Amino acid sequence: MEAASDEAIARFENVGLRYGLGPEVLRDVSFALPKGSFHFLIGESGAGKSSLLKLIYLALKPSRGLISLFGNDIAVTPRQKLPALRRRVGVVFQEFRLLNHLSAFDNVALPLRVSGAKEGLVRKHVSELLAWVGLESHMEARPPTLSGGQQQRVSIARAIIARPRLLLADEPTGNVDDVMGFRLMHLFEELNRLGTTVVIATHNMQVVERLGHGRLLLDEGFLTVKPPRPIPDPAATGKDLISDGEKKALAVAEAAAVADPFGNFPGDDETFGDPASLENYL
Ligand SMILES: Nc1ncnc2c1ncn2[C@@H]1O[C@H](COP(=O)(O)OP(=O)(O)OP(=O)(O)O)[C@@H](O)[C@H]1O
Ligand SMILES: [Mg+2]
Repeated sequence: MEAASDEAIARFENVGLRYGLGPEVLRDVSFALPKGSFHFLIGESGAGKSSLLKLIYLALKPSRGLISLFGNDIAVTPRQKLPALRRRVGVVFQEFRLLNHLSAFDNVALPLRVSGAKEGLVRKHVSELLAWVGLESHMEARPPTLSGGQQQRVSIARAIIARPRLLLADEPTGNVDDVMGFRLMHLFEELNRLGTTVVIATHNMQVVERLGHGRLLLDEGFLTVKPPRPIPDPAATGKDLISDGEKKALAVAEAAAVADPFGNFPGDDETFGDPASLENYL
């Protein structure tokens, strides 16, 4: 289904979005997400970050303009083909959207189970990933008994467990401390290194500055794209840019890199389920 002529994972051309009869909240938005790219999506509260992500994962239709996902022009793609496109997208929702009657383990396991993965494999991958995000002692807990930050980590694990082609994360570190924030960012970078295209909406400018990835800037409905920048070298500036807390976070992230949370993950040729449409299966 991926058109060979279009290397962009997603492409917007002059996209506009309005809710009902309201004003346009996104205007003339044009950009492309090259395969394997990593972008932060930045803008003030109400700037339209969540709306833009919803357009990319096909939860909203644009009022005008062209959207293509994996080389498919959405306006002319038959409806019945859309779920297959969505299945390649992992989404971390701003409001988590976990299934409250299932344990943390079962929430994360769902995309793998839906895709028919063997139970032994499910057990192994889900428990490794939950341990990696620091939830090994909460695997059997139901979401309402978890803190906001814990639910956020379950939601992240569910979005990435099946190694999506495209990961969209809406404020994925909004409820965790700096150490966990860096650890989760490292997880996204690791997923990206393995081939997933990543877009992360965030207000955390410290993380954005420190990691140097490309940026999509939203301001009053208009979008500007900024390329990746070299990460500032503390030695060159003569200033120690990294605080003690961050040093600790980086040490944790480096230790985790050795453990490689995706080391045993299934290959790209295997198909997996879609966290965004899990409701369809319950
Ligand atoms: N379902 C909706 N119906 C009407 N207006 C909406 C709806 N969802 C969002 N909006 C409006 O669209 C604009 C963009 O909202 P959006 O949620 O995309 O912003 P955001 O950048 O994600 O903000 P935040 O940083 O607070 O999450 C806002 O003016 C908001 O009021
Ligand atoms: Mg939002």
